[in-house]
Amino acid sequence: MYDFVADPTLPKPELYRELLTAADALTAGEPDGIANMANLAALLWQIVPDLNWAGFYRMVDGGLVLGPFGGKPACIRIPLGQGVCGTAAAQRATQLVADVYAFPGHIACDAASRSELVVPVLRAEQVIAVIDLDSPRPGRFDSDDQAGIEALAGLVAERI
Ligand code: SME
Repeated sequence: MYDFVADPTLPKPELYRELLTAADALTAGEPDGIANMANLAALLWQIVPDLNWAGFYRMVDGGLVLGPFGGKPACIRIPLGQGVCGTAAAQRATQLVADVYAFPGHIACDAASRSELVVPVLRAEQVIAVIDLDSPRPGRFDSDDQAGIEALAGLVAERI
């Protein structure tokens, strides 16, 4: 059993430091990428406050395919360049969207989502997945969340 407890009232940089420590401990030495993504999605879901969805889309044959996540069932396939996830993958750049209604082509998998953070996971300079966080609160994500999830993407790039 793993029982990580993080205080959601911690300042974000500390919360993400704890998240990274837990993510490292959970995935170190485990070669199965699906098991690692499943535990990482569960960890994000447990530790990061104010989310309605948290998980992975994987790059498969040039498009994004749903991976392990926490939240409601979601769209299975997202073409490159479409939606927030497909844009992050195509541009190989984090998308921090304060208001999803203002993002052209946003894909509404869960009607509750109002803001979104999508970070590409790069291995050998190729996008192998994206980490997607959705919140029901507009403007939920800021540069601290971006830095924390980008650090997580760097940590797990060789483990998923
Ligand atoms: N909103 C995303 C789709 C994935 S769900 O949020 C889980 C997008 O526009 O790419």
